[in-house]
Amino acid sequence: MKKILLAMALSAAALLASDGAALYGKCAGCHGKDGKNAALSGAVISGQSADTIATKLNGYKSGSFGGAKKGMMTPAVAALSDDDIKALAAYISSL
Ligand code: HEC
Repeated sequence: MKKILLAMALSAAALLASDGAALYGKCAGCHGKDGKNAALSGAVISGQSADTIATKLNGYKSGSFGGAKKGMMTPAVAALSDDDIKALAAYISSL
């Protein structure tokens, strides 16, 4: 029991710390491991600045940004916190 509680506490701490690389795991299926897969999204996301990426992600979340296929991005960003978006933007800009 103690071990289970400890494991839960550790994973909660990991989630709170917003690990960009881990968060990117659910993006990689569409954007590619290196952010260069444009076949599906039409856009290479690696090489963009962290600020640009964060602005776009916030825009998808609020509905103020997006193209014809934004419906594919909306569910991907819906549950992201501000810290998640910052961590993801920093990670993607480093790819
Ligand atoms: C189901 C496939 C899919 C998933 C999962 C997905 N994306 Fe996307 N992404 C797209 C598509 C399609 C677009 C283009 C949408 C449009 O028309 O605006 C896009 C656009 C983007 C853009 C803007 C590109 C530009 O320069 O205009 C960014 C940044 C982005 N995605 C980041 C992410 C991140 C970060 C995640 C994970 C949290 C993610 N995406 C998950 C398919 C996906």
